[in-house]
Amino acid sequence: SGGIITIPVVVHVIHNGQPVGTAPNITDAQVESQITVMNNDFRRLAGTPGFNNNPVGADTQIQFALAKVDPNGNPTNGINRVNLCEPSWSTADINGTVKPSTIWDPTQYMNMWSVNFSDQTLLGYAQFPNNSGLGGLQPNNGSASTDGVVANFATFGSIDYNDGTFLLSAPFNRGRTMTHEVGHFLGLKHIWGDGGCGVDDFCADTPASDAANYDCPTGHISCTTVDMIENYMDYTDDICMNIFTQNQKERMIVVMNNSPRRTTLK
Ligand code: ARG
Ligand code: ZN
Ligand code: CA
Repeated sequence: SGGIITIPVVVHVIHNGQPVGTAPNITDAQVESQITVMNNDFRRLAGTPGFNNNPVGADTQIQFALAKVDPNGNPTNGINRVNLCEPSWSTADINGTVKPSTIWDPTQYMNMWSVNFSDQTLLGYAQFPNNSGLGGLQPNNGSASTDGVVANFATFGSIDYNDGTFLLSAPFNRGRTMTHEVGHFLGLKHIWGDGGCGVDDFCADTPASDAANYDCPTGHISCTTVDMIENYMDYTDDICMNIFTQNQKERMIVVMNNSPRRTTLK
């Protein structure tokens, strides 16, 4: 069936005892700014710098809302602050400890984590949906206890405090890391398919590409056509991104309609 899909979200803000507003314990406003960016990007709404007015871009008809009810049925603002008594985390420990100890039922919520990564070069990462019928995805490849998307607190949201407290810094300061990770969460591959020109991302309307683009290049040709560097599933700077294509939208809708732990988010 058609119509707008609104995915309920919980954001787990992982900290080490800092007060709210002291890194990495990001503010409610910073969390809300991230949801706003995702809604601007997935619905192709104006509002986020980088401008979502590219005529090639699709309104995916998928949007996000912080949860209003927690797993126990109590009211919540959808923000779960947890002191896990560690200053920073490796991805192995995030997957082994942080996620399993904080996750809300992944059949009912899209889980997002803001974490201080020990690898400060890492922006974020995601778990693909389980779906044996979708090109490029392995069947049953991810466990329920780690389902969701993670970003470094320093790339989470789009409010630049400019006070040295938070590290949101160009070119990854516009919240597009989570737009990209949620694309993976809904089944999108990188537009270069993580391989050469013959490797597909299973979207006919993203031109073939043989590698990630960085920065904000103009007219870069890798496989006879200009790369779609504005696509959220490339590696370009936040302000350069403004496209999910029609085929990417269709792929995400297939996931929402077929994939375990995605169908129940609608
Ligand atoms: N490297 C990350 C990934 O592959 C995220 C890249 C995000 N890019 C950005 N401009 N924020 O999932
Ligand atoms: Zn990626
Ligand atoms: Ca393609």
